[in-house]
Amino acid sequence: MFSPQILLPGPTPIPEAVQKAMLTPMSDHRGAVFAPVVERVRHRLADLLQVDTDGAVAVIPASGTGALEAAVQNFFAPGQRILSVSTGAFGDRFAKVAESHGLLVDILSFPWGLPFSPGDVIGRLEKNFYAGILVTHNETSTGVLNPIRELASLLSAIPPETRPLYIVDSISGTPSVPMQMKDWGVDVVLAASQKGFMCPPGLAIVAAGGKAREVYEKIPSHGYYFDLGPYFQGQLPYTPAVSLWYGLDAALALLEEEGTEARYARHRTMGQMAAAFATEVGWRPIVASEYASPTVTAIRLAPGQHPHKLRQQVSQAGLQIAGGMGPWHHDAIRIGHVGAVSPAMLYGGLGILAHFAANSEAGLNAAWNVWHNHITFEEA
Ligand SMILES: Cc1ncc(COP(=O)(O)O)c(C=O)c1O
Repeated sequence: MFSPQILLPGPTPIPEAVQKAMLTPMSDHRGAVFAPVVERVRHRLADLLQVDTDGAVAVIPASGTGALEAAVQNFFAPGQRILSVSTGAFGDRFAKVAESHGLLVDILSFPWGLPFSPGDVIGRLEKNFYAGILVTHNETSTGVLNPIRELASLLSAIPPETRPLYIVDSISGTPSVPMQMKDWGVDVVLAASQKGFMCPPGLAIVAAGGKAREVYEKIPSHGYYFDLGPYFQGQLPYTPAVSLWYGLDAALALLEEEGTEARYARHRTMGQMAAAFATEVGWRPIVASEYASPTVTAIRLAPGQHPHKLRQQVSQAGLQIAGGMGPWHHDAIRIGHVGAVSPAMLYGGLGILAHFAANSEAGLNAAWNVWHNHITFEEA
């Protein structure tokens, strides 16, 4: 009777307006009904990510990994050397995608639970020439928000001729946390429909600034299906995922309606609620608050408590949460608060988790206090 409550780092709940939009009847994807949807979505995305005027956005039929692959194929040629910065499982994946395309990949890894150090990244650039740097904005496996802007600012001191192309996997970051491509100096941003965009999985987003588009022109081959050139020009070379486009159009309207600052604040509040709850019940938010992600919180359980069992138990009460990844597989869970999740929904989910924690009342009080301190009510 009840839909399961999902507190996952994607996919996220889908708002009703988005569900309804996806029921729009099919029409010619090259016809007059669909064309304005495509234009609107591309322009809204460019505004949202603050792509520069020479830049463009490609929306391709794929999950997030498709965006990683498309970026590697379209902006680099096999044999070029790049630096891949990893702070967890998704950083590792980006490096593998690049290797699979025949790039010479130097990997700079940081310990799980920590962000990358922009100074260390710049240090590596002094030793080698790199055509590009690949980084993860919000490392979903650990719940760390990386210092994208700080690295951008250090990169801006490098002369444009030798500055590597700066490519950011923001799949679980954008649009839930700030991303200002032009002002910060980020060349390419990758995103996916099933996270902060509150849509089902299936659309990958590649936003490229002017410099990235110039680099694209110099790459001899971009592959076939994922050649982004036509997409950057507003064309849809192959049959698009029409229903998902309608959904994304509706979701972008909802994001606009909520407003940027309110959205960032909602996610920040939920990150703090999850951490406060975990601390008080005797679990442990693994990532320190100064770099904790606003969209996903990794939590170490009490000794002897197994994440797999806990996830099975809470699912009986209708709640789905994610397990720890990699080295945290055996003792951690991840609570997602990305996309169409409200503090009230999170509080309900924590209420279910509280059944399996020691100091449940203290945990719920702590979460409620965070929420209470951030909530504002207008005069009736
Ligand atoms: C940061 C990050 N990068 C890449 C991916 C891969 O996306 P997908 O599973 O949609 O292919 C994910 C998915 O969770 C992610 O969070």
